[in-house]
Amino acid sequence: MSNRYHLWVSGCQMNGSDARRLADVLDSAGMSAAENFEDAGVAILYTCSVRQSAEDRVHGQLGHLKSLKARHPDLMLCVTGCMAGVDQAELRERYPFVDLFVAPTEMESLPRLILGSTANRDACAPTSRSHGPRVPVSVGVTVIRGCDKFCSYCIVPYRRGQQRSRPEQEILEEVSSLLARGAKEIVLLGQTVDAWGRDLDPPRGLASLLREVAALPGLARLRFLTSHPNDFTPDLIEAIADVPRLCEELNLPIQAGDDEILRRMARRYTVSQYTDLVARIRATIPDIALSTDVIVGFPGETVEQFEHTLDVLRQVEFDVVHVAAYSPRPGTAAARKMVDDVPAPEKLRRLHQIEELQTALSTRKNNRLIGQEVELLVEGRQKGKWRGRTRSNKLLFLESDLNLRGELVTAVVEAAGPWSLRGRLETSAAGPLSTGSPGSR
Ligand code: SAM
Ligand code: SF4
Ligand code: F3S
Repeated sequence: MSNRYHLWVSGCQMNGSDARRLADVLDSAGMSAAENFEDAGVAILYTCSVRQSAEDRVHGQLGHLKSLKARHPDLMLCVTGCMAGVDQAELRERYPFVDLFVAPTEMESLPRLILGSTANRDACAPTSRSHGPRVPVSVGVTVIRGCDKFCSYCIVPYRRGQQRSRPEQEILEEVSSLLARGAKEIVLLGQTVDAWGRDLDPPRGLASLLREVAALPGLARLRFLTSHPNDFTPDLIEAIADVPRLCEELNLPIQAGDDEILRRMARRYTVSQYTDLVARIRATIPDIALSTDVIVGFPGETVEQFEHTLDVLRQVEFDVVHVAAYSPRPGTAAARKMVDDVPAPEKLRRLHQIEELQTALSTRKNNRLIGQEVELLVEGRQKGKWRGRTRSNKLLFLESDLNLRGELVTAVVEAAGPWSLRGRLETSAAGPLSTGSPGSR
């Protein structure tokens, strides 16, 4: 049992990508993944601090693990991710049964700490591995860590540290190995991914990295997220327009549609600077899919200021909007200097209003796709259907007896809802399903 590990991952894709890298190292050292905590000798929690609700989920999980640890004292418990990225004394006091707390900035030491522990020493005869286990069709690769923006509401810079770009060679090697193991789509990740390379010596830019990654053999599709509007340069628009494997899709958080709120959020752009950027992007790539993030109920946000956000959502017509109610994060400028004065029920009302508006806008947008041919990358099976994504990152479900996993196919959209599409297979080079059991993937 001691050579099996279980990863519990919450939060953003950054945690997902860190967890995958750890799993790779543990696998190559002879360990293997367990389905659940009960079957594991090592449990690692990738935690998130972005809102109080995210931290509450971790506290719930640790409550559950306390009794498991009491029954299995040999279980090694590690807590990493953003909650561990702070003075850990308080956590240690509250959870004395946790063996290890590892800050996200210290992540590199995690494999050594786990593999070096007495419980695992015997199990871990390192094996050399040229091609490791199979990976999902779409895989995220962190290219820039940390963040220097210090938006007034945000905990990330305090927990993930300064912005640090990974060197290009290291990224290309990781992507190549993922492609060799079956990945078809690579998503380059960072809190401000469009700032990639500025801190390298000599400085580099994301557009050139995208072009190099896109040229790697075996890659079907490339995406990147999250972009900060102030770091988004014209050469990125050109890259999306002329690199065929780079999908026409962007995650460009606006956060609020009111200049005064944006100023107090320390986002350092105005609504018109944001909408001008969108107009420039759409002038070159008219069908680009745009997703965004919005916070409602920021300190001092009046109903009128909130309505400015609704206006901008109507004007821009995003494909997807991720909306969150403001949650004060201890230590951030907003929590220190501003009063969290929008009552919780009012935050919820604003949140629902945005969701309702966006559901209508997304439905209308998706309905326009009915009857159209779309390029689909099929990721796997779900409830008896094949699940894939369009270039615009929309989910599409279709039925087929062929084995379509990892295939780029053409589908025709037959029906649309706000969150997904349904279609039929038009063309595919895939073989019949009988070669494998699709339900197990
Ligand atoms: N780097 C990205 C950006 O510049 O927008 C996103 C970072 S954050 C990990 C993901 C999202 O969480 C943000 O876009 C924001 O909408 C939301 N968020 C961050 N801090 C928050 C807070 N204190 N309360 C509510 N939502 C928050
Ligand atoms: Fe947080 Fe702002 Fe950095 Fe995004 S850009 S991670 S919102 S500080
Ligand atoms: Fe959460 Fe940290 Fe990501 S706070 S959203 S896990 S960067």
